[in-house]
Amino acid sequence: MRIKNICCIGAGYVGGPTMAVIAQKCPEINVTVVDINEKRIAAWNDQNVKNIPIYEPGLSQIVGEARDRNLYFSTDIDSAIDKADMIFISVNTPTKTYGIGKGMAADLKYIELCARQIARVAKDDKIVVEKSTLPVRTAQALKNILDNTGNGVNYQILSNPEFLAEGTAVEDLMDPDRVLIGGDIDTEEGKEAMQALVDIYSHWVPAERILTTNVWSSELSKLTANAFLAQRVSSINAMSELCEKTGADVNEVAKAVGMDSRIGSKFLKSSVGFGGSCFQKDILNLVYIAKSFGLEEVADYWEQVIIMNDHQKKRFAVNIVKTLFNTVSGKKIAFLGWAFKKDTNDTRESAAIYVADYLLNEQAEIVIYDPKVTEEQVFADLDYLSSRPEEENRKRVTVLNNPYDVCKDSHAVAILTEWDEFEDLDWKAIYNNMLKPAFLFDGRRLLERKKKEEIGFEFYAIGS
Ligand code: UDX
Ligand code: UDX
Repeated sequence: MRIKNICCIGAGYVGGPTMAVIAQKCPEINVTVVDINEKRIAAWNDQNVKNIPIYEPGLSQIVGEARDRNLYFSTDIDSAIDKADMIFISVNTPTKTYGIGKGMAADLKYIELCARQIARVAKDDKIVVEKSTLPVRTAQALKNILDNTGNGVNYQILSNPEFLAEGTAVEDLMDPDRVLIGGDIDTEEGKEAMQALVDIYSHWVPAERILTTNVWSSELSKLTANAFLAQRVSSINAMSELCEKTGADVNEVAKAVGMDSRIGSKFLKSSVGFGGSCFQKDILNLVYIAKSFGLEEVADYWEQVIIMNDHQKKRFAVNIVKTLFNTVSGKKIAFLGWAFKKDTNDTRESAAIYVADYLLNEQAEIVIYDPKVTEEQVFADLDYLSSRPEEENRKRVTVLNNPYDVCKDSHAVAILTEWDEFEDLDWKAIYNNMLKPAFLFDGRRLLERKKKEEIGFEFYAIGS
């Protein structure tokens, strides 16, 4: 089976970059990315490729190369489904905000809508690929909808979870540790469908890095991978608090521990807390699934990763209040960074949002600079929490496009995202323009303590 036309539903952080790389690597395949969001599609089609809606290092060049050659962005979902041999579903699966499983289970309404739309439109056999992270056994639900509402069309459902991290999405796609493809390994049709997807990745990924499994293993592996990664961050963050009490330094501990080859050095960077669209959502989902099978101990074990992360964010904010003589009321706190990590404009679940929310409850004035995040996004993030009237957020929060203006006349500066450029700021000039004592809180272990203390800062860093 040779795939000639691919459709991807969802032009987001996952669908956009993944399809751009497939199109670049497979020039003989036409790839159409569709989305219900017209504004987003228009941005992907912007004449100036620098204006595509997602910032990822290296992405605009790839889109520039493949767009209108074999990569298309469109809002005509029906026609793209009709033409495709293979359809990727890459829509978002947020945590449910209502009803059964509220605050925990993944909301699959968009996935179901996609399945029903495919069933309505498809006239010939299709391979449907789950790209979104989904609870285990979603493939079965998809198949039920497709088989029972379609018009005699045969569907094969594959699970092909994405392991790309934002900020390094292009690198991760070009040179993945592994590609995971789950499918119906017990039937010839299932194996054929899996092979068709293997053939696509084989254009650039070595055979030994392409794993094929049954569909449930694939779905669960994705949740497990994210849970393990998040658990490492929560583990080192738990140690960071103990380091602060004992005089140990969390970076030194992480290095010593990470040099044990059984543990490994990656993902041991202590921080103000993990964010991003995946970790919290996927763990909550895992907890919900475990509970639904009555596995209370399994559920509690993983829930602790989230509890620790919430504690870390709060602890950072509380420390600012305590250090500033137990009140930040009317005080200007400068935030450097708002994105959930460097090299992305994504702010979903960013620790900065929660630290800001806490400080706003303590009546602080917050002034923010992030090199990639817009003022509109900052307000959208704060308003979403519904902690106070929207006008109050606008009254107390200011977003500026220059770090020096942000820090000027502030009582304290807090680093919330580890953007490289923050290291190279003229910290002497920042110090001179701040109120004294000049407090500096490093939530990312980005800055060198000694140099900052020599300048005169009262310096606080996570884990030391
Ligand atoms: C993805 C995955 O889908 C999610 O499961 C994973 O855990 C995180 O990454 P992401 O690409 O980051 O989501 O989400 P987002 O940037 O919100 O993109 C999803 C897109 O799907 C949006 O542009 C949205 O407009 C579109 N969409 C949603 C549709 O086109 N149709 C729908 O019915 C719903
Ligand atoms: C994650 C997974 O890495 C990826 O495989 C999956 O497909 C999607 O979810 P992402 O959320 O984009 O990717 O970024 P990641 O690099 O994993 O960082 C997540 C959060 O953890 C960030 O807020 C980051 O700052 C934080 N983090 C990461 C730490 O605090 N310390 C670390 O050592 C690593």
